[in-house]
Amino acid sequence: MVHADTVRRPGKVFADMVITNIGQLLTMNPGKGPKRGAEARDLGIIENAFLAASQGKVAACGPQAAFSETVELVAGATVIDAGGKVVAPGFIDCHTHVVFAGWRGEEYGMRSRGASYLEIAAKGGGIMSTVRATRAASREELIERTLGFLDEMLSLGTTSCEGKSGYGLNLETEIKQLEVIRECSRLHPVDIVPTFMGAHAFPPEFKHDRKGYIDEVIRMLEPVSRLKLARFADVFCDVGNFTVEESRLILEEARKHGFELKLHADELENTGATELACELGAVSCDHLIKVSQRGIEMLAESDTITVLLPATSCFLGEFPGAPGRRLIDSGAAVAIATDFNPGTCTAMSMPLVMTLACSVLGFSPEEAFVAATWNAGWAAGLGGIAGGFAQGLAMDAVIFDTQDYLDVPYRFGTNLVHTVIKAGKPVRSKNNK
Ligand code: NIG
Ligand code: FE
Repeated sequence: MVHADTVRRPGKVFADMVITNIGQLLTMNPGKGPKRGAEARDLGIIENAFLAASQGKVAACGPQAAFSETVELVAGATVIDAGGKVVAPGFIDCHTHVVFAGWRGEEYGMRSRGASYLEIAAKGGGIMSTVRATRAASREELIERTLGFLDEMLSLGTTSCEGKSGYGLNLETEIKQLEVIRECSRLHPVDIVPTFMGAHAFPPEFKHDRKGYIDEVIRMLEPVSRLKLARFADVFCDVGNFTVEESRLILEEARKHGFELKLHADELENTGATELACELGAVSCDHLIKVSQRGIEMLAESDTITVLLPATSCFLGEFPGAPGRRLIDSGAAVAIATDFNPGTCTAMSMPLVMTLACSVLGFSPEEAFVAATWNAGWAAGLGGIAGGFAQGLAMDAVIFDTQDYLDVPYRFGTNLVHTVIKAGKPVRSKNNK
């Protein structure tokens, strides 16, 4: 096992929260940026370890034998004895569409009987069906639903996520979605990093006026930015949605308004969207089921994080999905996420996504862990803040009910999450839901 550097300081470190007797502590060996190649397989495991925090941030970690000489507990400190279990950073789900109303089970039935995603969308289903439901829903209804989804995520070990608008497609509802994100992030232990995705589809009002809707999306950027409702802007660049040139126009305007960029790229067909994301220096480029060789090479050479969503490709019946192994071997910095939404992925489980990354996309379990934590943090705008354990990083941790980290992807379908700690506070545990 690799042993991560123990955090050592002269004198003792004060801690108000500690986990002791950890069988395997997965530190992720956090460095200065997202990991690639051999580094992206290094979990920085410390066996028989402790993890100590102060004011919501990691204060120290190291071998249990060094605990008493390293840590001074403050009065009233929380101490959890992990009893030999595995402890890892909380998952960061770096691509979700978590705010929406309604479900689309009937479309799943249609797809299972042979209809395609694009055929259903062309008949007014798909994204547009969720747009109608989300426009009709009150802010309070959306808040209640989203808090419920965040509860489920937390129970599965997710401590932060990214969340997109894009089921409004008009200023009023896009803002409603983004305000729901802000409110839920405030109310719930799971933080949500907000993304404006007015360019998710063309609404019926603009069915015959593409240029009109693109101008409308560009007009929405100003209020969304002024109200500080989103950090990222994202576009669904694909057949049936926004072309590469339309996406470029929207993203260049978004950048002028201070947004960082993301792109839904090469999901349904190859359109050259990945190349666009790299050219624009997007923070992440997501999906990539149909990415070209040139796209893979450009990702490998760029700082853009490759976000793969294997639950979406499996749910759509697209096998094997994105060329995960080739992307990793080419040197791209790869993250994984759920893509939670009512159309193409109803799962919120990052352990499930890890299993699919390993079984279908060719990741090793170690690569899947790094992609779901440290690298996902860089895709979600939490790079160097969360997703690993080293002094100063967020004390967002999961205790798994197992002695071996391999069980997390291996025991798929079983939720092994025992306790979740967010910002140094136990927020979920098996005995105390
Ligand atoms: O990531 N690709 C675009 N958006 C979603 C699907 C949204 C929907 O079908 O409601 C996705 O797959
Ligand atoms: Fe998506």
